[in-house]
Amino acid sequence: MNFEYTEEQLAVRAAARDFAQNVLKPGVIDRDREMRFPKDEIRQLGELGFMGMMVDPKYGGGGMDTVSYALAMEEISKIDASVSVCMSVNNSLVCWGLEKFGTEAQKQKYLVPLAKGEIIGAFCLSEPEAGSDATSQRTSAIEKDDHYLLNGTKNWITNGGSASVYLVIAQTYPDKGHHGINAFIIEKGMPGFTVGAKEDKMGIRASDTHTLIFNDVKVPKENRIGEDGFGFKFAMKTLSGGRIGIASQALGIAAGAYELALAYSKERKAFGKPIHEHQAIAFKLADMATEIDAARLLVMKAAHEKDNGQNYDLSGAMAKLFASRVAMWVTTEAVQVHGGYGYVKEYHVERLMRDAKITQIYEGTSEVQKIVISRSVLKD
Ligand code: CAA
Repeated sequence: MNFEYTEEQLAVRAAARDFAQNVLKPGVIDRDREMRFPKDEIRQLGELGFMGMMVDPKYGGGGMDTVSYALAMEEISKIDASVSVCMSVNNSLVCWGLEKFGTEAQKQKYLVPLAKGEIIGAFCLSEPEAGSDATSQRTSAIEKDDHYLLNGTKNWITNGGSASVYLVIAQTYPDKGHHGINAFIIEKGMPGFTVGAKEDKMGIRASDTHTLIFNDVKVPKENRIGEDGFGFKFAMKTLSGGRIGIASQALGIAAGAYELALAYSKERKAFGKPIHEHQAIAFKLADMATEIDAARLLVMKAAHEKDNGQNYDLSGAMAKLFASRVAMWVTTEAVQVHGGYGYVKEYHVERLMRDAKITQIYEGTSEVQKIVISRSVLKD
């Protein structure tokens, strides 16, 4: 067993850390307060090659492995989880889904600019009544001559307003259940497609989360992804990898809060000595460090399995379940270590605590991860 990162992986981590500290950190509090999408920062992330990290260079990507991607996600998430969710959706869901299952024409037209970071993508599965229960898709895509007619509403869509390309899951044959679901590539500007209200969220406030409305949108047949009826499997397979991205995000949020708590504990004095010299604080830091390391091992195991062509459905679900729980716990403890300062925006930890919560909700709630895990462990 080898726990060492390669030179290349370490270089990716260093580049991500440098970008997060120098480019993202200065404006992160204002973007969060103003719910301002980090458009310029995402463009720079694209120029660094971080929006299509794992895509084959022949399609404009970085050709990197999942371990490198997880390391970059961790570093970016330590500072700005609004940026990292945009990065994660573009890399894990949109680019990966198109590279794995798209036609050559779809790859040339959509994947290349997405992987280069010239445009942003969104992944549209959730609906008002189909969140965890993803098979209950109400959005319909009815086949007509040379196109499908798309009608319905999607909710809580990350990059909803800023994306140019949307992967949309819809029901074509309701009598076939999930075998009748398809996935389509929709472009912003297609007649009948409207970007609805932007959500005013508890955390990841600078990310751009919208409702999307499709009203008789004519989708060319060549925009369907995969065989007729492949849409649900497309979504499940894509989300399996997405969960490694969000697990890395949760890990980064936890690690970021821990680093702040550690530094603060050395600066802040109480009862005549730095607070880390009080066992109450030192033991908190010990627990935080241990939980974070355990989360990192699960994340890297899942990333390693994906890179080695093994099945990562179980390890990805475990990594997401555990890392998101750690993120919630560590950020809450980090606020506690900071005392009153932790409760104000200037010290960053309150934002990380708010951001942590979403990692237990999106790309499958913690309960969804437990469905995946329990089915796996109970099947034998
Ligand atoms: N790979 C391939 N196929 C899979 C699969 C996987 N990982 N998981 C399930 N499937 C297949 C099954 O084999 C089955 O196919 P067959 O009938 O042909 O055998 C089919 O899909 C249905 O599977 P289930 O019977 O297990 O389906 P279920 O209704 O019991 O639901 C679930 C399972 C795990 C709860 C699933 O619905 C799920 O993952 N829900 C959560 C959806 C989700 O993550 N939403 C997040 C939205 S995207 C997002 O958040 C992005 C963002 O903006 C940040």
